[in-house]
Order: sequence, then C-alpha cells, then structure tokens
Amino acid sequence: MYTEKVMDHFQNPRNVGEIENASGTGTVGNAKCGDIMRIYLDIDENQVIRDVKFKTFGCGAAVATSSMATEMVKGKTVQEAMEVTNKAVMEALDGLPPVKVHCSLLAEEAIHAALWDYAQKNGIVIEGLEKPKSDISEHEEDEEY
Ligand code: FES
Repeated sequence: MYTEKVMDHFQNPRNVGEIENASGTGTVGNAKCGDIMRIYLDIDENQVIRDVKFKTFGCGAAVATSSMATEMVKGKTVQEAMEVTNKAVMEALDGLPPVKVHCSLLAEEAIHAALWDYAQKNGIVIEGLEKPKSDISEHEEDEEY
C-alpha cells in the first residue's frame, strides 16, 4: 500500500533530531490522531535554510513525509521553502494512500510554523506565509483530496 520511496523514508528517515538555538522552531499537532510534529530550522544571513531537523510522535506516513519535506527545504531560501507543499512532498514520494494524506499536512504546517517563528524573531515578511495553527484537525476537513 506504500510506495518504495515512502517505505525508504519511513525506515531510514533523514534529518531526525533537533537543532540547538535554532533560527526557528515550529510544533503542530493533529487532534484526531494525537500525533505531533516539531521542526527546527537553521537559517543563515542570506535567508537560506542551512540545516533542518524534525522530531515526531507520528505515524509512518508522517515520518516519511517529514523526512522528504526536510530534504526538499534544505538549501532553499525561506521564500522557496514556501513552495514545498504537502502536495509537492507527496508527489516526490510517488503518492500516499488517501487516508494518510492528512499526515503529510503535519510536515507542511510544522515547517510553516518554524518559518513564522523565524520571521517574527527577525522582523521579516515571508510572502504567502500565514500565522500557523497549532492544531490542524479542523483545517483538514476543508481540504479537497
Ligand atoms: Fe496521525 Fe498519520 S495518523 S499523522
């Protein structure tokens, strides 16, 4: 039911851990399943994401999507990182089963929350970035899959 890429990222997740004195951190949860995701970003003076780590109490799909999402934002500017949506991450993983699509939102929302934290601390505006929700369960109902 899972693609090879999903299994690979689930079994060998990239960028697990935490960053001390991160430029931005974001934590989001999904009230329905109780899963939690935290993302740490290390961003340099040119607004390039130098390093990124994640920690999760999440299911396999959440682990795989976060692993892939962190790989995709690494080396990008904070503005480019906004293009790493859960859809883009799912495509990079060759798809997720429909019931697991909401899990991929944890990674996207946590990255956005960490970017928001960074932007607030540095007084900058990241185009298209909205104040993060701490709980994504309501949002998920309105999504079209
Ligand atoms: Fe909760 Fe996947 S079931 S993140």
